[in-house]
Amino acid sequence: MSFAKASVRDAPVAGSRVLVRVDFNVPLDAGEVADETRVRAALPTIELLRERGAALILVSHLDRPKGPDPALSMAPVAARLEELLGSGVALAPAVVGTEVMELAEGLEAGDLLMLENSRFEPGETANDATLARGLAALADLYVDDAFGAAHRAHATTEGVAHLLPAYAGLLLEREVRELTAVRDDPARPLCVVLGGAKVSGKVGVIERFLGTADEILIGGAMCFSFFSAQGIAVGDSLSDEKSTEVAARILERAEGSSCDLVLPVDLVVGRELDAGTEVRELDGVEVPEGWTGLDIGPRTASRYADRVAVAGTVFWNGPMGAFELEPFAGGTRTVAEAVAATPATTVVGGGDSAAALDAFGLADRVDWLSTGGGASLELMEGRKLPGVEALMDADRIGSRS
Ligand code: 3PG
Repeated sequence: MSFAKASVRDAPVAGSRVLVRVDFNVPLDAGEVADETRVRAALPTIELLRERGAALILVSHLDRPKGPDPALSMAPVAARLEELLGSGVALAPAVVGTEVMELAEGLEAGDLLMLENSRFEPGETANDATLARGLAALADLYVDDAFGAAHRAHATTEGVAHLLPAYAGLLLEREVRELTAVRDDPARPLCVVLGGAKVSGKVGVIERFLGTADEILIGGAMCFSFFSAQGIAVGDSLSDEKSTEVAARILERAEGSSCDLVLPVDLVVGRELDAGTEVRELDGVEVPEGWTGLDIGPRTASRYADRVAVAGTVFWNGPMGAFELEPFAGGTRTVAEAVAATPATTVVGGGDSAAALDAFGLADRVDWLSTGGGASLELMEGRKLPGVEALMDADRIGSRS
């Protein structure tokens, strides 16, 4: 699968300051990084740049602050990166400005400076030109390794890429290659497993796969939008009018497609979203009043596992239930185990599915575990990612230097 963007491997970085956009939007727990997958995933690009004599200025967003918020400082992430690299990572007091400029100017080959949370600047999400210029002034080159944020046209992912020679980092390139291969040239049958809470965030990808996949297996709370569209009682399960309409449209489209849209045939329900709640296995999908559907049932899970076992390619996004609570983890565990065991090419996208694989100790048993949630879905949908589009084309290396 070809990748048409300029690669960091070909960037003339020795003696330069390189602004590296990473996606260090990681979960924090009591002020510490709770999942370092995204930090680890950026290490090959960081190490390559340091080995080649660059000074690095790292920038990322963390969560969705509306302005400066000490609870969302990059400090814990800088500390974690320091531990992983075994060398110092200085933290800038802001994203841009005189003090940051001075710190950048003082960097030597191999040094690392992490800017503060890019969303402390309101210009970040507005893709503000002044912020982009302020960022560009810090460095000689730009490398984008933030695949997870590549679907955002923000100042650090898009604006600044037009102002400096802009290259793709190793992670971003690999993500695009792996996901594009599954989208455009999958070994058949292509089995898509979709879960998670809301159907609304996945309409685009479902519609695309109705035209290209052999089967789509639905789990997670979003199945209740489909059931409600079919007039089946969903009890207190997650579903609303809008998502029911969306699901009804998808069901209609599925009728005329050659793709098999598969819904659960049994469920695990609970009184509340709580590990100690009263739990029932339903031999069917009609949820009584006062009960909430919180996992697919064992028959559904084993059907899904059987399909995954004989697929040529599996793309999985979204857990099958509330897997963080043991009584509702069974469906996701069975699917995760099937994805780990199948000889098919397996690609998993989205933080929740990754967290599920991790929880079951299966994270290293899939062919590609994407660091992108929304970005992987948009790529799968066939949409262009602004963070990738803004990079230099491979055949035009040097045109922006
Ligand atoms: C993600 O976690 O999906 C990315 O970091 C993007 O974050 P966002 O949805 O807040 O833009």
